[in-house]
Amino acid sequence: MTTPSADSLRSALREIKDPRSGQDIVAAGLLEGIHVRDGMVQASLLTDRAQAAAMEPVRRQVQEVLARQPGVRNATVVLTAHKGPAPIPPRPAPAGGHGHSHGPGSGPGGAKPPLLLPDVKAIVAVASGKGGVGKSTVAVNLAVSLARQGHKVGLLDADIYGPSLPRMVGVSRKPEVRNEKMIPLQAWGLSCMSIGFLVDEETPMIWRGPMVMGALEQMMGQVEWGALDILIVDMPPGTGDAQLTMAQRVALTGAVIVSTPQDIALIDARRGVKMFEKTNVPVLGVVENMSFFCCPNCGHRSDIFGHGGAREEAKRLGAEFLGEIPLLLDIRVAADGGTPIAASAPESEGAKAYDALARRVWEKVSGTGVARGAGPRIVMG
Ligand SMILES: Nc1ncnc2c1ncn2[C@@H]1O[C@H](COP(=O)(O)OP(=O)(O)OP(=O)(O)O)[C@@H](O)[C@H]1O
Ligand SMILES: [Mg+2]
Repeated sequence: MTTPSADSLRSALREIKDPRSGQDIVAAGLLEGIHVRDGMVQASLLTDRAQAAAMEPVRRQVQEVLARQPGVRNATVVLTAHKGPAPIPPRPAPAGGHGHSHGPGSGPGGAKPPLLLPDVKAIVAVASGKGGVGKSTVAVNLAVSLARQGHKVGLLDADIYGPSLPRMVGVSRKPEVRNEKMIPLQAWGLSCMSIGFLVDEETPMIWRGPMVMGALEQMMGQVEWGALDILIVDMPPGTGDAQLTMAQRVALTGAVIVSTPQDIALIDARRGVKMFEKTNVPVLGVVENMSFFCCPNCGHRSDIFGHGGAREEAKRLGAEFLGEIPLLLDIRVAADGGTPIAASAPESEGAKAYDALARRVWEKVSGTGVARGAGPRIVMG
């Protein structure tokens, strides 16, 4: 059965009334987002914290209506507390050298909540404008390579709707809670956190209060990350709420944009770059994933999706080209098997490509080129 469109689901929800205004919830502007993927639907309803209890029956009703629609396998509805895009907080003061500058109360104004993760020296988002280009695979292997190079590394799965970290690192159990903070799971030398550790893939997502953006915030603020050299953040596809939350709530050191060499993916990569520029997050550079294919039998190299497109696009955007990752069966098998290639076959061609990427990323975040949260939006190497 085909998956219904977000628009058709939105129309179906018009039968539900907003108890406050009496209008239908779509007209009342309560339906903030609706995402459909393979018959799995996630929707968020806008509320404020004071109204959360009163909105709970509406949330349940929305979930029921969505679950009844043809083609829907599972529906999850959460209440979100944030109110549209808030202004970007002022960046923390520039720091020299290693750039560990952010902390509570940075910037004038005072009323803004303190930035999260003050003990993490560098925070790097792995993003793209498009789904399925290999962000999670890059994020996991980049993190593993950095750890193998001797850094203390965390890996945060910011994909609340479709977490992939548990599968990719082969670990999934409920984290221990100590002093009201969750202890990240250890895998492949990394401290890992994903909403997938807290909810089963198929269960509706209700986690510690029904606030979805809260979920991402909690995975930063209520997790005992400790003092990390670098936190790699695997971003969800697109340019939505999670990106905004990250840009606003932590001092992101920069973003690594992943693209395949195809034109269509490059257009999305461009959108990804623009989004980070808009939120004042430096773009560390662009990685070309699935750059070329080497036949495992004869070693013949073919450029399945073209080759070099991302390098040219990076140049056009004034961003650094950070490297290319070949399309390799081993990378896919290792990722799906929960044994990232950078750890399970460190001498392989794939691992070497991630290793080179990790070295360049580390140079960029630890060198003087990128003062944390300051400097040009696009940083040249
Ligand atoms: N270089 C590569 N060689 C072979 N397979 C790859 C490579 N990079 C990624 N893959 C495979 O492609 C698929 C999609 O990758 P991945 O889940 O990392 O993409 P994503 O951009 O994070 O997707 P989403 O947008 O859904 O989060 C996975 O099966 C992964 O194993
Ligand atoms: Mg992913």
